[in-house]
Amino acid sequence: MKHFIAPSILAADFGNLQRDSEMINQSEADWFHIDVMDGVFVPNISFGFPVMNAIKKHAQKPLDVHLMIVDPDKYIEDFAKAGAAIITVHYEACTHLHRTIQLIKASGCKAGVALNPHTPVAFLKDILADLDLVLIMSVNPGFGGQKFIPQSLLKIAELKQNALQVNPSLIIEVDGGVSILNAASLISAGANALVAGNAVFAAPDPLGMIKELKNLTIG
Ligand code: DX5
Ligand code: ZN
Repeated sequence: MKHFIAPSILAADFGNLQRDSEMINQSEADWFHIDVMDGVFVPNISFGFPVMNAIKKHAQKPLDVHLMIVDPDKYIEDFAKAGAAIITVHYEACTHLHRTIQLIKASGCKAGVALNPHTPVAFLKDILADLDLVLIMSVNPGFGGQKFIPQSLLKIAELKQNALQVNPSLIIEVDGGVSILNAASLISAGANALVAGNAVFAAPDPLGMIKELKNLTIG
């Protein structure tokens, strides 16, 4: 199966959310990637429920919600009600990660865990079989438009190996600094979902860029 493409709304024009959402609807993208930042877990504040509801109103594809917030348990039900299809929490933000994962599943959403660049893939060993998705952060979370951290490629490959043992259908998503220049190597390493913010929205032809990312030739 082809990999998933998830344009990150963080890089969209917030004055034209309807227009940018329609662009994603028309495109070959698979999901809307929604970055929620609380100014505590990460040094930036993005948006919350009112904006997510506005996106939901126009989005005709699943919402892939990336929570960069402390204590996510409090809001999981609310994000599910706001239309999330996938909810990804940060390993570093969850004291009782197993409980958080069960909460996400009970809310009817697919459950993901994101790893910051410094967090080893091995830390997920005892929970890997319970997850639908792992998000490898290839930048430090908080901002769009940052430079890809090359070590992420090794983490993807290691995760892919581990997943083959216990959870072959695991979705391996990469987020941060993804572009047409590194996308093929990410897929070759084992990723099957690419988040792209600036690569899509700063491109002269966002629709064309999504098409290119979706139809990569993997060597
Ligand atoms: C960063 C966010 C990313 C961000 C990616 O904390 O999680 O989803 O929007 O943006 P680019 O693709 O521009 O690095
Ligand atoms: Zn993200």
